Amino acid sequence: MDIRIYGDEVLNKRAEEVLEIDDELKLLVEDMFKKCPEANGIGLAAPQVGISRRIFVVLVRESTDDEGKKTKGFKEVFINPVILKSEGACKMEEGCLSVPGIYEIVERPETIKIEYTNISGDKLMGTFDGLLSRVIQHENDHLDGILFISKLPKLKFDLLKKRLKNLKDRKSGR
Ligand code: NI
Repeated sequence: MDIRIYGDEVLNKRAEEVLEIDDELKLLVEDMFKKCPEANGIGLAAPQVGISRRIFVVLVRESTDDEGKKTKGFKEVFINPVILKSEGACKMEEGCLSVPGIYEIVERPETIKIEYTNISGDKLMGTFDGLLSRVIQHENDHLDGILFISKLPKLKFDLLKKRLKNLKDRKSGR
């Protein structure tokens, strides 16, 4: 399972709805849960591993920072997710396993309400803020072929053009 890098067509496509949660899909999800921390990510969308389906996983490990601030662990797979509501706005730094080495501040809604199906086929609803809201919005964008760099102000984006071209060239082995 390889992570697809900027320039790969699969990252620009709208992913297909999942119609059935079968064994093959369950294996894919298991592999994604393994790949995500291996690659030092906290979220991974199926198109990033070359599978154009509406699935992403979020895996945040419980941790405590130097100031003693705790981050709660979270693990979930989102199948056919739909963001029903988003509120507020906040800025946070983002990176993406498919756009290695580039980290930029992105503005997005602060709180989201999302409907999704879990691995057992249950339809669930969740409201998220903070880091989880951020990861979920980022991963959900992948299902629509949207990368975080397209959310940057034009001036910022233009400054990244050369590095993006290098990623693209590296990807195609030129
Ligand atoms: Ni990403």
